[in-house]
Amino acid sequence: MILVTGGAGYIGAHANKELNLAGYETVVLDNMSYGHEDFLKWGEYENVDLDDLKSLRNVFSKYKIDAVMHFAAFTYVGESVEDPQKYYLNNLRNTLNLLQVMNEFEVKKLVFSSTCATYGNPMEIPLTESHPQNPINPYGKGKLMVEKILEDYNSAYNLRYVSLRYFNAAGADPEGDVGERHHPETHLIPLILDAASGKREDIKIFGTDYPTHDGTCIRDYIHVTDLADAHIKSLKYLENGKKSEIFNLGNGNGFSVKEVIENARKVTGRKIKATETDRRPGDPPILVGSSKKARKILKWQPKYDELTQIIKTAWEWHKKDNKKIGKKDL
Ligand code: UFG
Repeated sequence: MILVTGGAGYIGAHANKELNLAGYETVVLDNMSYGHEDFLKWGEYENVDLDDLKSLRNVFSKYKIDAVMHFAAFTYVGESVEDPQKYYLNNLRNTLNLLQVMNEFEVKKLVFSSTCATYGNPMEIPLTESHPQNPINPYGKGKLMVEKILEDYNSAYNLRYVSLRYFNAAGADPEGDVGERHHPETHLIPLILDAASGKREDIKIFGTDYPTHDGTCIRDYIHVTDLADAHIKSLKYLENGKKSEIFNLGNGNGFSVKEVIENARKVTGRKIKATETDRRPGDPPILVGSSKKARKILKWQPKYDELTQIIKTAWEWHKKDNKKIGKKDL
């Protein structure tokens, strides 16, 4: 049985689906602070908060857990700057709780959701795993602290782990079972699609004076199903007795904000009004990752490596989800 914390959230739900398709039994652990009930389509479910050690122990007693995939975390970078305590308590202390109970129950395999935000402002592009890590916000700092803690747990308690540093997760399950739904939504692609469907008037472009070819920020968008697949490959890697590792997960192609908007106009066939505004504080100009290591060691090969494919799956989900949750009929 695989424990999937945060399995009712965006990336966790996609991974939970892929785990079940791959023949694994899963139990999702989620406190529903940001999770969605209708994403609980596979495996067992326990409504538990990771700050509650007693309930956590009950879950480990009830199921025979072989490995853990740990998605549960808060992920709003801006909010982490305004309220760091909220982030350190949930993303750091609650991860320590999880590790403590894993230790008590001798569960020795973990796949951890880390982030490219642990690098901070890049000194060179593409970012490789050996690039210095100088995170510039509490979200990235907390994730880096967990990475470091895992090193010590590995040495002291023989916990083997894979830390996956995601670049910009995007897109949705091609079969439409789950997709991206955040409240509030802050991510570029879903906001562009809101503008395409008339749910919002326009998309704001945060800064047009960056040192990039068109002045807007460049990011490496990676399809959520490809991320999910990397988790399964990481789990199998650990099951094969391999040593702890850290991998970047991205496509290695960078797209500017303006390019993403243009691509979305083509995919949706809709007019999307873009309004140029000031920079959003804390955004590095370019984040593009090298995932050569994951490709080589995990034999991971992203299937949705075209931005068009990523936006297409996001658009299909967007239309379906809007109908479902009773928003404007598209
Ligand atoms: N952007 C806009 N307008 C918007 C929203 C975003 O122009 O309305 C721009 C941002 O400035 C940025 C790019 O679009 O340049 C992507 O922004 P997102 O908010 O979609 O994603 P981020 O790159 O800020 O954040 C992602 C993950 C975080 C992770 C971070 C690492 O969502 O969890 O990468 O830097 F921490």
